[in-house]
Amino acid sequence: MMVGKPVRQWRSICKGLILGALLTTCMILLYCLSAPEVQFGLQEVPVPYSCAHRPSAAHSIPNSSHHPSGQPICTPKVDIVFMKTHKTASSTFLNILFRFGEKHHLKFAFPNSRNDFFYPSSFHRSQVKDYRPGMCFNIICNHMRFNAAEVARVLPADASYITILRDPADLAESSFHYFGRVVPLTWKISGEDKLREFLSDPNLYYDPEGFNSFYLKNLLFFDFGQDNNLNPDDPRVDQAIQEISKRFQLVMLVEYFEESLILLKDALCWDMEDLLFFKLNARKDSTISKLTPELRSKALQWNAIDWKLYQYFNDTFWRKVDAYGRQRMIRDVAELRRRNAEMAAVCIEGGQAVDAGSILETSMQPWQPIGERSIMGYNLKKNIDKAHRRLCRKMLTPELQYLSDMGVNLWITRLWGHIRDILHW
Ligand SMILES: *[C@@H]1O[C@H](CO)[C@@H](O)[C@H](O)[C@H]1NC(C)=O
Ligand SMILES: *[C@@H]1O[C@H](CO)[C@@H](O)[C@H](O)[C@H]1NC(C)=O
Repeated sequence: MMVGKPVRQWRSICKGLILGALLTTCMILLYCLSAPEVQFGLQEVPVPYSCAHRPSAAHSIPNSSHHPSGQPICTPKVDIVFMKTHKTASSTFLNILFRFGEKHHLKFAFPNSRNDFFYPSSFHRSQVKDYRPGMCFNIICNHMRFNAAEVARVLPADASYITILRDPADLAESSFHYFGRVVPLTWKISGEDKLREFLSDPNLYYDPEGFNSFYLKNLLFFDFGQDNNLNPDDPRVDQAIQEISKRFQLVMLVEYFEESLILLKDALCWDMEDLLFFKLNARKDSTISKLTPELRSKALQWNAIDWKLYQYFNDTFWRKVDAYGRQRMIRDVAELRRRNAEMAAVCIEGGQAVDAGSILETSMQPWQPIGERSIMGYNLKKNIDKAHRRLCRKMLTPELQYLSDMGVNLWITRLWGHIRDILHW
């Protein structure tokens, strides 16, 4: 019994040292790889108006003539910039885009070696896998820090720009939970409820220069390539919102995900079938601490720029719904829900998401936040009929596995995963 304690102490010191060494190595490695690659050698080659690789039948300029039934005929738009914001159900949306892209044989601008474009570095076209000057892609959708001028250089000029927002208080809570451990500023926050402690006096803990500090303040605005530490009344904030508004044809809202998809279908001339989805990368309810009204108002005050952004696009969203027709929207959302439920019954064992520990196939295992196993996943049903088998598997495949299946090399992400497995972290 006498030796038990020192041995344990030694063990934890050794574990700490190994962990420290591995982490440092990883950080250096990641840093080297993610340092913005300034490439002066890239020639300026103009991007063609439309350079999509697609069958001649599908063209992105809508055919304005009408079907005998009186319904206008249009052809699906296939050139899409999806600006993937953080913690906004965007993994679910990516799955929709991946399937749409495969169906139409579209060319994706993917990142190389990891699943984002070296976030939080600003996007640069040289980060695109196999990029060469003059190259043109149909879809770009992985995490990036938005940079309009660079994005415009890899997609046709008439590409559709889409993004998604979420209520900033809920987003702040989710981000704090998911990324808290990679933000050193949070390490010194004491107490059980670190978020409450942080929000009670954010300035006590927050430092705009702190490593990864953007995860804690106006993360949405930061994702759009803006300065998340501006004063909310700074004219540059309104200016940035106006620019986003001009650039993005559709700004979806997580809280009205199905309605957003219906607006998307309308804007891009897609089929209802293209919108089918299962909720991916969802957090287990029990681990979500519901914000009290008091904390919510503190979170909104702290993330005042994101709150401005959200309110602005909430307005434009509902104006779009009005233009679409409220009754028509209710009808279409009901149909989408009915068809999603049908698919769930066909594809999912038990009909719903389960804890990570209950997922049988590793290829169905979602990526987990550091130190947690709170993200739920699915078991594919056995004996699915032949007509649905492929679609079911694709709809349930988590983002990283799907990226691998489409030929993206994720060695940095995988290495990171193995290290975490070894450390049971
Ligand atoms: C538009 O669609 C109609 C009906 O299918 C077809 O007859 C017509 O040629 C199309 N026009 C163009 C410009 O593609
Ligand atoms: C969003 O807009 C709707 C309709 O105008 C309004 O009822 C709702 O309160 C708004 N929500 C927020 C968070 O501003």
